[in-house]
Amino acid sequence: AMYTYVDQDTCIACGTCGAVAPDVYDYDDEGLAFVLLDRNTGTFSVPEELQEDVMEAHEGCPTESIKLSDLVIGKEALSHI
Ligand code: F3S
Repeated sequence: AMYTYVDQDTCIACGTCGAVAPDVYDYDDEGLAFVLLDRNTGTFSVPEELQEDVMEAHEGCPTESIKLSDLVIGKEALSHI
């Protein structure tokens, strides 16, 4: 399984992740990315057909803010999205 979340503390709103994986990442009002699928909690297993996009976002993020895990991450849901 693959889980993902965006570390918004280090995201610089560069826009790469949403460009390469638009079904997975979106941006909040400040342009910071979050995971659409689960409100950035890292609890929704990324469907197989989207995993390649997520890998690309992970590799393309200049600040390494796209986190990946084989296990449920379970971050607190972002309150502002
Ligand atoms: Fe932020 Fe990295 Fe996406 S800087 S906008 S998480 S590619």
